[in-house]
Amino acid sequence: SSHLLSVDSLSRDHVDHLLRVAARMEPIAQRQQVTRVLEGAVLGNLFFEASTRTRVSFNAAFCRLGGTVCDTTGFTFSSMAKGESLYDTSRVMSGYCDAIVMRHPEQGSVAEFAAATHVPVINGGDGPGEHPSQALLDLYTIHKEFSRLGKRLEGAHILLTGDLKYGRTVHSLIKLLSLYDPMRITLVSPPGLEMPSHVIDLVVSRGHRVEQRDSLASDFSDLDVVYTTRIQKERFTDEMSESFAGVSQDFTVDRAFLDARCTETTIVMHPLPRDSRPGANDLNVDLNGDPRLAIFRQTDNGIPVRMAIFATLLEVEDLIEKDLRPVRW
Ligand code: CP
Repeated sequence: SSHLLSVDSLSRDHVDHLLRVAARMEPIAQRQQVTRVLEGAVLGNLFFEASTRTRVSFNAAFCRLGGTVCDTTGFTFSSMAKGESLYDTSRVMSGYCDAIVMRHPEQGSVAEFAAATHVPVINGGDGPGEHPSQALLDLYTIHKEFSRLGKRLEGAHILLTGDLKYGRTVHSLIKLLSLYDPMRITLVSPPGLEMPSHVIDLVVSRGHRVEQRDSLASDFSDLDVVYTTRIQKERFTDEMSESFAGVSQDFTVDRAFLDARCTETTIVMHPLPRDSRPGANDLNVDLNGDPRLAIFRQTDNGIPVRMAIFATLLEVEDLIEKDLRPVRW
């Protein structure tokens, strides 16, 4: 069976198809219509790392297609705490579920799990590896926002900033963007947290202009998208935490940055969660209420995009429209 483990397996046609299916899911996501197309199907939601959005929105998307969900969170609530392997867990879960979403702190672990099962597996984040469903909803968001603003992806200027080394969402997103017509991509990260060079090489080889800077104080122009990511401190060594503490405020996207460097049609994105603890210096709350802040439009878009992922992996996309009924509640 097919899985969604990395965006590397997706062609431009495949991505465009998924996003078209997502657009057809909007009436369900917006509670105008309902379907029971996945009645009787069971999703296994296996999260071995903290999550709010990915876990709950995959759960909600499956339920809104008529299925039911078994949700397991944390190592202590699975028999991996007793030393059970990924292989055995996968073989067992395959007998219980018709699709599985998995998040795990080790890069490559979700692919290892998927190799042992015959049911579709979706990578909900594997350590610093990839997060393909987040990148798909980010791309869907960019398409929707650009359509509203009368913009095109071709030639767009996209800034990716923050932890580009451990931030798995940007690894998947930049590769998805690279499937489209040439654009300008600027990367800004603190020292030691740069985008892996093999990813940059791939994007450049597909005809895009990629520039790396070490400061948000650079003289940017014509920014269409500012995509900022949380510093993934949980993946740091103690040494890295100390060296980062002194520079963190220089990489904060806030109102002053927007006023100085952006236009009325720049959109600001973040996969969330943003760290709002004192001193965290993540995307600043002083932008709350600014219409350019697209972060909660992103989270809303997670539902139709994740419904589209299930619809295509379980091959029910054409059945859904025939099954649609008006909402009765
Ligand atoms: N964007 C994202 O993956 O959020 P969660 O960690 O809350 O799932």
